[in-house]
Formats: sequence, C-alpha cells, structure tokens
Amino acid sequence: MVKPVWIKHASQLATLVHEKAGPRVKEAMRELGIIEDGSVWLENGIIKAVGTTNELQTKYADRATEADIIDATGHLVTPGLVDPHTHVAFGGSREREFEMRLEGATYMEIMNAGGGIHATTSMTRAATEDELVIQTSKRLDSFLSHGVTTVEGKSGYGLDLETELKQLRVMKRLQMEHPVDIVPTFMGAHAVPTEYKAREEEYVDLIVNEMIPIVGKEKLAKFNDVFCEVGVFTPEQSERILEAGKLHGLIPKIHADEIEPYEGAELAAKVGAISAEHLLKASDKGIQAMAEQGVIACLLPATALYLRETAARGRMMIDAGVPVAISTDCNPGSSPTTSMPLVMNLACISMRLTPAESLCAATFNAACAIQMEDKVGSLEVGKQADLVLWNIKNYQELQYLFGVNHVKTVWKKGVKVVG
Ligand code: NIG
Ligand code: FE
Repeated sequence: MVKPVWIKHASQLATLVHEKAGPRVKEAMRELGIIEDGSVWLENGIIKAVGTTNELQTKYADRATEADIIDATGHLVTPGLVDPHTHVAFGGSREREFEMRLEGATYMEIMNAGGGIHATTSMTRAATEDELVIQTSKRLDSFLSHGVTTVEGKSGYGLDLETELKQLRVMKRLQMEHPVDIVPTFMGAHAVPTEYKAREEEYVDLIVNEMIPIVGKEKLAKFNDVFCEVGVFTPEQSERILEAGKLHGLIPKIHADEIEPYEGAELAAKVGAISAEHLLKASDKGIQAMAEQGVIACLLPATALYLRETAARGRMMIDAGVPVAISTDCNPGSSPTTSMPLVMNLACISMRLTPAESLCAATFNAACAIQMEDKVGSLEVGKQADLVLWNIKNYQELQYLFGVNHVKTVWKKGVKVVG
C-alpha cells in the first residue's frame, strides 16, 4: 500500500481549475486558479482534496500520521506537465544533420536527399522492438525529470505496415512499463518512403486501405496525424487520409503550415481536427477558421528555434480566440529536446505568451489537445495525482529563470518518481 501524500504550505498551488469546461481561450488562459498557502491530499493515485492548508488541516487532522507530509513552504506546485506532440519512439540519432544545417543545407534539402525523416526511418526499421523500448524509455525518463508526466507519441518512422505497428506496440508496452502516460498517434503519413518515390498516390492508398484499418481495429492509436507540407502530402491527400482515419475511430491531427503556407490550418478546421501543429506560416483566414471551430493550435517554439525560423504567431492566435497548447515536438531532427520548461520559456520569448498563458498551454490546454483533460492537466478532486513541486516560489519564475531545470519532486499517480 502506498502511503497518502499530504502537500502543505505551497507558496502557490497553480490548480488550473476554471469554471468553464473545455480548452481555454483568451483571458481564461491567464486564470490559473492559484491558491496561496495551498495544500493537496493524494491517495490511491488520485487527488482527494485541494484547498488552502487551513482547509485541509481541518479535514485531515485525524489522519495526519498516516501520510507522507511534504512541507512545500516557498515552493510552486503545479499539475504534471503534458506534452501533446512528440515523436518519441524512434531509433538512432541525427547529430550530423545538425552540423549540415549549420553548414548551409536546409531541412527539406536533407530530407529530399534521403536524410531527415528517411534516415530515422531506416534506423527505426533496423531496431528491434526491445531496442526501441529501451531507447524510448530513456527519453521518457528525461521527460519525467523535466516535470512531464503525460506525452503524446507518434509513429511515422516506419512508413511500412510492419514498422508502423512496431512503433505503436513499443508505445503500448511503455504505457504498461513506464510511469509516464503515453497517448499514441498513428502517423504513417509522416513522409512518402523512398521506395514509393514518384508513386505517392500508391503510398496514400496503402495508408488508407491497409494501415489505417489495422491500426483502428487493433486500437493501437487514438489520433491520426499527417505532415501536410509542400513536397510531402498535399492538402487533398491529407484530407483523404484524415477522413479515412475518422471512419476507423482515429481523431485527426495535422502538421500544418510548418515550412511553407499550404492552407493546413484551413484544412484542420474543415476536417474537424482536434489540433493543428506548428502553424509557423498559417494564414489569417486559417487562424480565424480554427478559432471558429475550436481547433487547438499546438505550437512548437523549440522547433522554430532549432530550424532558425520565426516562431508561430502565438500572441495573435490567443487574441483571435484560438485555444493554444505548446509542446516539445521531441524528435531526432527538428527538435531533439524533452524539456517542456524550455518550451514554456520560448513560448514567452518568441511568441509573446505571458507566463500564465504558457503554463496553461503546457498543462490544461495540452491535455485537451490529446483528450486527456478528464484525467490530467489540472489539480482537481478525482483526477490523477500527477504533480510537480518546483524549486521556485511562483509561476512567473518558472519562465523567468530560463535554461535551468527547476524540478524538485514529481508524483505520478500519487507515487514519487523524481526527487
Ligand atoms: O514535427 N515536421 C515533420 N515532422 C517532425 C520532424 C521529424 C524529423 O525531422 O525527424 C516535426 O518537426
Ligand atoms: Fe512533429
């Protein structure tokens, strides 16, 4: 039996509780539900009570001796961070491409020459399931050490039926074997594999007719994502793939308008995607359409930085009424990081989110982007006991003191997993 945990006297308990349901927009993104001198009781993996230390003192006075008591005086406590967009289950690494880009090559040139996603596809195909579990598990450990307790994870480095299923099975195994919750997305449409060069439509047929039906039937993924980009999948191909996924129970997501404008944001609204990702080059019209349909913008400022591109217009999107989430985009090419705190800081610096908006985008709105908001993303009675105790006193410091890991303690389902 795991002992209950009683956290007391948090200088700030950022609960992220809000009266309105659903992803937060506009000023609601800045309302963090902060309780000063906050306290939480965790038991059986669940949050049992949230309030001021005084309130919980009254409620739990006669059970104090049963619990592990944590004095959080001077510390910020938040929900475990949620990363709603990762490519975490891959083989190998691509540090040489980093060097090539600095020598002048572009991301798409490297990919078109057989590197980029294709290089990782070769390494992922060559790896056994056990090898991928070991490599991915290490990355999940790193996420956890940065306060991330839930991640989404995409396939898309298989680009053939066997390897796509292998990646999804790796994530399914890790869901059992690793404390971090991992929510799987099928992304067979991450690139056209080199063996289908000049036969793109045939690869789309394979995704639609073979891969999606099996992934849907075996319930190996919750979402279906497409890299809709000039030279990768057209908006028409993307729509076909996303509509096919819907027929098999897979919710659409879309890598949209990352490198060139391609009306990806418009497409996300049209197909009713839960989220659209990247959006560096999204049009005003597309952003408006997303706001109207409530499509979540999942913004990836570390990727923009790493590709030396101008970040997405996060400030403008929030002001336009788009619900915004942020993510690492953890992948071996355009964003090899597991640090959500770094991403929260970049969201402020490069997209002008306020520190409060940035925290909302990394917790509650991020949970909404992977339909996990009933379980994680805020500190509410009945939700999973996923919490982070930070070595700082308030939420502003979290982004202000940047490039430093402030995590002191992490609880996942009520169990201390870091610190
Ligand atoms: O989200 N843009 C496409 N896919 C990934 C990068 C994958 C890679 O380079 O391996 C992304 O940035
Ligand atoms: Fe991505």
